Amino acid sequence: MPDLFSPYTLKGVTLRNRIAMSPMTMYRSVDGRMGDYHLMLLGSRAAGGFGLVFPEQIAITPDGRTGTCCAGLWDDAQVEGLARICALVKEMGAVPAIQLGHTGRKGSEQKPWEGKRQIAPDHPDGWQVRGPSALPYGGRYTYPVQELSIPEIHALHRAYADAARRALAAGFEWLEMHFAHGYLGASFFSPLANQRTDAYGGSLENRLRFHREAMDAVRAVWPERLPLTMRLGSDDFHPDGVQFDDAVWAVGELKRHGLDLADLSLGMNTDDLREPPFSQAAFMVERGSRVRRECGIPVAVSWNLGTPAIADRVIREELVDLVFLGRPALANPHWPVWAARELAQDDPFSLLPQDWSWWLHNRPGSENSHGWPAPAASR
Ligand SMILES: Cc1cc2nc3c(=O)[nH]c(=O)nc-3n(C[C@H](O)[C@H](O)[C@H](O)COP(=O)(O)O)c2cc1C
Repeated sequence: MPDLFSPYTLKGVTLRNRIAMSPMTMYRSVDGRMGDYHLMLLGSRAAGGFGLVFPEQIAITPDGRTGTCCAGLWDDAQVEGLARICALVKEMGAVPAIQLGHTGRKGSEQKPWEGKRQIAPDHPDGWQVRGPSALPYGGRYTYPVQELSIPEIHALHRAYADAARRALAAGFEWLEMHFAHGYLGASFFSPLANQRTDAYGGSLENRLRFHREAMDAVRAVWPERLPLTMRLGSDDFHPDGVQFDDAVWAVGELKRHGLDLADLSLGMNTDDLREPPFSQAAFMVERGSRVRRECGIPVAVSWNLGTPAIADRVIREELVDLVFLGRPALANPHWPVWAARELAQDDPFSLLPQDWSWWLHNRPGSENSHGWPAPAASR
């Protein structure tokens, strides 16, 4: 029976444990490039014991960013910053993963702490947002949306492939396509955002065409030995939006197009959520487990999994294959070490670089002398 600290192999890649740092958008890039801030953020999580480490969503085109200070990979000049991160993450024993995406009608946004409102297209930090249909999201996303033409959709698929080629050159070993959270992939899948009458809209089959073609374009340049995964907006929590049954069908379809693992998250195609589950622990796990069973594909989920006993249980019970941690990874760069202590694993400090763990193993002191509380079981 696996536990949270069992190694995990997918295709030609082995993770040292089942704990991933989930992609989290930061607002610290200049011209889409990643710098020392990102090296610090991601290197420290790899040093803290995470098995898989994602930077934020990386935009395939400039208008695919959340804001002008977010990262991208539409230009060769953006490879170097990411290559530095890959090298450090690997040196610290983790596997570097990349999430490629496009924000669609939810782009051109202020930083969260500046209000998170959409910025006007004619403002120097704003742009004309694009989506499957000319339907604004509403709420704080107020500006008109331009409907993508079919040649523009094909150009986006080429942009996915070009970004994937650059990701490989940078040293990434795991590629996730971001089709969740109300961004472009999520909005093509959802009737709340997609009201096209051509081959990319209408039936469920048509609403998944964008994803199938994007995945085919990426799979053609991304080596078979490396995992290709996606984060899917699997439920809109709205009667007129994506229902979870749609997601189960979509995962089965995309598996035939080379999908190696499904990371299931929320649609977020509307703010009008009916009975949102945000306050429940581990609320995506049951859904993930259904996809794992019915589609016969490995599954990862995030959302409220920061309690070690819960994260361990969902792996032990083989409900999901990996746990993705967002906010817990921001709160504690050493979350895996802390969890290993809480779960009474042998030698939690072995997750740290040897330069640190040697001292923690070899210098006597009281239980708390190195600044960690004693594990819960012994308190
Ligand atoms: C600061 C921040 C930025 C995020 N940015 C992204 C992102 O770029 N891509 C994505 O798929 N999810 C993003 N998320 C969602 C997280 O990856 C994760 O799915 C979510 O926070 C739930 O996990 P948690 O309960 O462990 O935080 C972000 C979350 C936070 C807190």
